[in-house]
Amino acid sequence: MRIPPFKLERYFARYEFNVKYVLCASDCESFSIQDLLALEPGSDDKLQRHWLGYTESTGSPSLRFEISKLYEHIKPEQILVHTGAEEAIFLFMHAVLDPSDHVIVHWPCYQSLHEVARGIGCQVTLWKANEEDGWSLDPDDLRKHIRRNTKVVIINTPHNPTGYLMPLEVFQEINRICLENNLFLFSDEVYRESEYEPGSRLPSACDLGENTISLGVMSKTYGLAGLRIGWIATQNAKIYKQMAALKDYTTICNSAPSEFLAELALRYREKLVRRNLEIITENLAMLDQFFARHAKRFAWQRPRAGAIGFPLLIGEEVAGFCQNLVESTGVLLLPGTLYDDPGNHFRIGFGRKNFLEGMNHFKVYLES
Ligand SMILES: Cc1ncc(COP(=O)(O)O)c(C=O)c1O
Repeated sequence: MRIPPFKLERYFARYEFNVKYVLCASDCESFSIQDLLALEPGSDDKLQRHWLGYTESTGSPSLRFEISKLYEHIKPEQILVHTGAEEAIFLFMHAVLDPSDHVIVHWPCYQSLHEVARGIGCQVTLWKANEEDGWSLDPDDLRKHIRRNTKVVIINTPHNPTGYLMPLEVFQEINRICLENNLFLFSDEVYRESEYEPGSRLPSACDLGENTISLGVMSKTYGLAGLRIGWIATQNAKIYKQMAALKDYTTICNSAPSEFLAELALRYREKLVRRNLEIITENLAMLDQFFARHAKRFAWQRPRAGAIGFPLLIGEEVAGFCQNLVESTGVLLLPGTLYDDPGNHFRIGFGRKNFLEGMNHFKVYLES
């Protein structure tokens, strides 16, 4: 398999740990191991005694039990734990796709959602979100994209990079189209539970039937990217088995301490989510003011979930703008060119505690 570099990840590899203000991170503020252990009396001692042998390849039963509670109709044996969501994307594509297949992908998107399929040799159609309509997806476009050899439709909601949250009717309609055409629906839900209005949360795709696969992770809403724990949930036993068999060639099984800590964090996830939504709410309020004040330089569509948005930069080329900004101030934004977006947008991330400080430097730069 030949696959081009992952542009966004290469950009982070260059800057993330060398700049002062990462104002484009998609994950929320993290926690220390100490913070997690403080959630449950006795867990400190349990972690110290936790066994460091190989773990169960599919994920520990108690962790899978905890993850299964996020869904309505999913049993622990329908959860396959991976090293991050990234491994799950890679294994899903390799388990399901042949080079002769066609895949339809919600776009713009996290690069691996289309690139891995391309690397396998598949035809890929990018299903473009409509910026003028709040980055919405039109199910009629999906119908037009379907070909004789289409096998998988890939969506991501809440969405990276726009913060788009799909309305329930559209979500259901997409699944209906997939069922009518015998297609798998791969639903990247790594930003789930970060909706600003709890009532707007979608059901998980995996709860809708056997043609669907949901992707989840500890990294984003819970702020625990360093655990590298992600998973797929599916009622499709065949896909589950194929992915589990492929995992023997990537990571075999997951990190034992990470599994322990992920399980603990999930037991108290409401606390973690509440803390992170508070940070998002405070930072978003200041972003709204900022964009109102600089309406001639930026066009802002307020996200409905998650810790990222995709504003438009007016009157200046975005990659050069981001480069000058980071070199002058240590404030890192992410140019949309890394998504191959031709529209002069950039990604801004507002899930971190030092966001306001970074924004102050950004403001001074703009106004000087
Ligand atoms: C939409 C989407 N899917 C998957 C991933 C991968 O998640 P992880 O880095 O935790 O493996 C990301 C990370 O940014 C993402 O934004």
